[in-house]
Amino acid sequence: MQRFLLCLTFMVLIGLSAIAQTITSPDKNLTLKFELQGNGVPTYQLTYKQKPVIKTSKLGLETKDVPSFMDGFTLTKSETSTFDEMWTPVWGEEKNIRNHYNELLVTLTQKSVKDRFIRIRFRVFNDGLGFRYEFPSQPNLNYFVIKEEHTQFALNGDHKAFWLPGDFDTQEYETVVSNLSEVRGKMKDAVTPNVSQTTFSPTGLQTPLMLKRNSDGLYINIHEAALVDYSCMSLNLDDKNFVLESFLTPDAIGDKGYMQAPTQSPWRTVIVSDKAGDVMLSKLVYNLNEPTKFKDVSWIKPVKYVGVWWEMITGKSTWAYTDLENVQLGITDYTKTKPNGKHGANTANVKKYIDFAAKNGFDAVLVEGWNQGWEDWFGKTKDYVFDFVTPYPDFDVKELHRYAASKNVKIIMHHETSGSVRNYERHLDTAYKFMVENGYNAVKSGYVGQIIPRGEHHYGQWLVNHYLYTITKAADYKIMVNAHEAIRPTGLARTYPNLIGNEAARGTEYESFGGNTPAHTTILPFTRLIGGPMDYTPGIFQTRINAYNPQNNSFVHTTLAKQLALYVTMYSPLQMAADLPETYDKFSDAFQFIKDVAVDWDASYALEAEPGEYITLARKAKGKNEWYIGSITNENPRVATVTFNYLPKGKTFEATIYADGKDASFDKNPQSYQIRKVKVTSKTVLKQQVAPGGGFAVSVK
Ligand code: NOJ
Ligand code: CA
Repeated sequence: MQRFLLCLTFMVLIGLSAIAQTITSPDKNLTLKFELQGNGVPTYQLTYKQKPVIKTSKLGLETKDVPSFMDGFTLTKSETSTFDEMWTPVWGEEKNIRNHYNELLVTLTQKSVKDRFIRIRFRVFNDGLGFRYEFPSQPNLNYFVIKEEHTQFALNGDHKAFWLPGDFDTQEYETVVSNLSEVRGKMKDAVTPNVSQTTFSPTGLQTPLMLKRNSDGLYINIHEAALVDYSCMSLNLDDKNFVLESFLTPDAIGDKGYMQAPTQSPWRTVIVSDKAGDVMLSKLVYNLNEPTKFKDVSWIKPVKYVGVWWEMITGKSTWAYTDLENVQLGITDYTKTKPNGKHGANTANVKKYIDFAAKNGFDAVLVEGWNQGWEDWFGKTKDYVFDFVTPYPDFDVKELHRYAASKNVKIIMHHETSGSVRNYERHLDTAYKFMVENGYNAVKSGYVGQIIPRGEHHYGQWLVNHYLYTITKAADYKIMVNAHEAIRPTGLARTYPNLIGNEAARGTEYESFGGNTPAHTTILPFTRLIGGPMDYTPGIFQTRINAYNPQNNSFVHTTLAKQLALYVTMYSPLQMAADLPETYDKFSDAFQFIKDVAVDWDASYALEAEPGEYITLARKAKGKNEWYIGSITNENPRVATVTFNYLPKGKTFEATIYADGKDASFDKNPQSYQIRKVKVTSKTVLKQQVAPGGGFAVSVK
């Protein structure tokens, strides 16, 4: 990490209560204005190229037991500074990231509360704003309980929004696209996930919330950064005035945060640009997180993997070894029960995947359903169902460790907690030790179903702390983590780069549970991916699920070629080839792209982007003269335009294009594709037809 400039801190002004404090972004396009209004109420506003993005909006927190941080403030200090540095992520979309902002730090004192004071820190980058509340150590502030955070984002009109219903437990929704004025009416149409929901308001929305201003097409994204020891923020929409206001996840007794000074809130973020591609590639959320705390990061590596997984998701095989009526959890001797004959995680089957991984250059094989307890995994007994160390009798831990090591392949551990978090914490050290002893260096964890202790939510402060605890504890054992159903990412992977994956959205699994819309993956890079990578698990070539399970009539809502494009458009240092080895063997020419594509990058270029419509992205492989391009569309066909001006000038490269066939479409003919090779230079402009629900991938060498 190299710091090349840390500019002056200047200006300390005393007694400026009535005067507005203003800073701009380094390029001067954004202006942030802070002002106390009325009875000492903190407010801010944000403009982009002189036009309001966030109109005058109130700031403050309501507390229990002690006076609130809402009003009665005077401005007792105002400081501005500039910061500019380059930093190098352990993995990512760019080799180096510039962190460049102007900062305003205001100190606000409540004279009537024995001179109690807080600070609000604003950072304005070229691509947006971050701000947070800080509660310094002082004689009259120690513990306090948050009743609600009242941070407003007053929008300048009725914008088009890409939104998920407010929910404290899941983001596995289809995104609804509508004007904000239509949210209330469309709430009931939102496609609900197959897990518990706790929608809290007729106009409650989740973040990252992507907006497009109807009047001029400006893109605005609202989220949070560095969510640590605090409840996750949702947004409540006032759909008459288009004001969004923070709404924190409550705990089992309705409280929203237990705080002790010195402490701070997460950053509230507003990314702004007139180019959709800039929002998609913004690093603002990462820049607001702390540099990594790890001294040694050599054990953290991007991973391309296959897994004993899709066969269970489709219903071809099972996680469970036997049937529920044969088990009494915690008591059953599985060697004495009758196997159901469909258990996926058996030694012979896992060896088949290890062979396939070794032959095709994959790093790892995920194995789910290897441990005892799956017969009732989110049923009544889930509070003690798993111990994370006891395999089923047909899964030979030692032999598979030996076999995988002999082929230079890692097995990825799976810890499904069923939401039984206390049980998981009790077993965590033993489970991680077991992993180290048996050669595992990565774990996929999961939090399906309602949380135990009952009444807690997936997105509450207690769980937020739990997820980070598992990540830091894993780091002690040099273990990488990919957590499903956990809190949505807020850029914490900068600080804890062993957090190589998260789900926190509707992934490929839903293609087997009824399907994702063709538009889904054209939206995720503007919403869910703003905080960090997603383990989306693409690569499904057998698009009719009943080929694996005659009872399952779901189908994948993309063409085969679009599945390839997702390796580029859905950035992740952890990429799965999710389909079955026998299917890949049938499509070995298309599979070549998955074998080739990089999972770590020197640079990324948004060539075309419009949320909900299409994305064309090019990326340069880390440390190699290789480029990969992915282009996807929604249900509408289109002609994509691919430029190559990022290639070194004056050289000719060979591009292999994996495109939709002429007659391809996601619903009628998804497996139609064509592969061709062309010569390209930095001056080439390629026009490529994309099928309905289709896409294409290009490798350039
Ligand atoms: C839900 C996860 O998203 C999925 O990947 C996993 O297979 C199941 N839970 C079982 O843990
Ligand atoms: Ca899931």
